[in-house]
This record gives sequence, structure tokens and C-alpha cells, in this order.
Amino acid sequence: MGGLAHELKNPLSTLNINLQLLREDWAEQAGPLAARSIRKIDVMLQESKRLERMLADFLRLTSPSPLDKRPVDLNRLLEDVLNFMEKELVRFKVDVLCQLDHQIGAVELDENLFRQVVINLVKNAMDAMAEKGGSLTVQTGLSEGRVRIEIIDTGIGMDPETRAKAFNFYFSTKSDGTGLGLPMVQRIIERHSGRICCESERGFGTRFTILLPHSGAAR
Ligand SMILES: Nc1ncnc2c1ncn2[C@@H]1O[C@H](COP(=O)(O)OP(=O)(O)OP(=O)(O)O)[C@@H](O)[C@H]1O
Ligand SMILES: [Mg+2]
Repeated sequence: MGGLAHELKNPLSTLNINLQLLREDWAEQAGPLAARSIRKIDVMLQESKRLERMLADFLRLTSPSPLDKRPVDLNRLLEDVLNFMEKELVRFKVDVLCQLDHQIGAVELDENLFRQVVINLVKNAMDAMAEKGGSLTVQTGLSEGRVRIEIIDTGIGMDPETRAKAFNFYFSTKSDGTGLGLPMVQRIIERHSGRICCESERGFGTRFTILLPHSGAAR
């Protein structure tokens, strides 16, 4: 399956590039035919980009490279990701509240993979608050010898059925979602000998809690 996914990568990117070129050609034309064609091309582009994202996530899940664990300043990593996403957060009218505990010290992490974890959780929080904005709280701390990270949003929340399926492969309630975000997040955390849990209430918001060992053994 991983081999097939690799094989699909090149034709898909050829398709994507040519669709983009075709769109540029049509954009130079005026009239209703050009407008109709561009609309159709945009649908194809949107779908082929979605396929590309699914494929990239699938490849990350199925053919994981060994973890590259080093001591990482987790608070700094969280701040970096939030800075990196600041424009989008502002656009989505999300207020960010950081409550970082500087006692946690360095944590043994694969920094690139862990960045993906945080980006995915913040993106989900932003999507959940897309309608009317809200607040995103990012907390760190120590609990019972473990490092705890909390990502809390005041978005739409989940009903119990959605919550039960949230970590399932390909489960998504979004028109453009792959449903691979949370399975990937969970997999990465488990590879760090950690765990993630989620509490959510429809209409109120969602809290993801990640617990990591201070210096877990790589798997
Ligand atoms: N913070 C959240 N608030 C409300 N619902 C959430 C939240 N995070 C996840 N969900 C629910 O869990 C589902 C699965 O999330 P997941 O990240 O795996 O996929 P996705 O976000 O739908 O797609 P993608 O990650 O590709 O954009 C979402 O479609 C949504 O219904
Ligand atoms: Mg997601």
C-alpha cells in the first residue's frame, strides 16, 4: 500500500501542475466560456490538492522514518508554531492565550514530527471556531512526573458520536477534510510513548490533553 501511494505521487503532481497551467491559459481569455472553464478547473484543482494532502499524510503514517529525538524546548516549539500561524489565527478571529510552565525543561522529541502534531491540533481548533472566532488556550505543565500539554478551544465542540470517531482513519465532518489529521497526531504521540485524550462538548468547545514522558524511550 505504501508502494502504491509512492507511485501515485508523481502523476498526481503532473496533473496538478498542468491544471494550474491550464487555468493560467484560460485566465487570459475573456467571456462566459472562459469563466465556466475556470470554475471547472478550480474544482479539479481543489480535489487534486486534497488527494495530494491525503497521500502525504498517508505516507507519513505508513512509512515512518526513525524518530530523530533530541532534547527540545517544548514551550519554545509551541510559541514558534503559534507565531507561524498568527496570520491565520487573526483572520479566524481567534485570541490566543499561552500559559506555559517554564519548569518543564527540555523534552526528548522529534521536533519536526511534533510540530506536525501542534499544527494539526491548532488547525482543528481554528476550524472549530471558524464561524465566530473564540479563544485558543495553550498550556504546559507537569503532572505526576509527565509533561502535559493542553490545547483548548471555545469552538463548536463535538457531540458524543463525533467524539467517539474523531481519531478514526478518514473520519471527517469537513467538506475538504482528509480525516487523517488526528490519527497522525495520535500515532506520533504514541511513538513518543505518550498519549492523547480529548474532552468535548457540543456548543462549548474541545480540550486535547497530551501526556509525554520526560524522557521516553524511542520506538
Ligand atoms: N477542535 C475540534 N473541535 C471540534 N471538532 C473537532 C476538533 N478536532 C477534531 N474535530 C472533529 O474530528 C474530525 C477529525 O479530525 P481530523 O483532524 O482527523 O480530520 P479533519 O480535520 O476533518 O481533516 P484534516 O485534518 O485533513 O483537515 C473533524 O472532522 C471534526 O469533526
Ligand atoms: Mg484536522
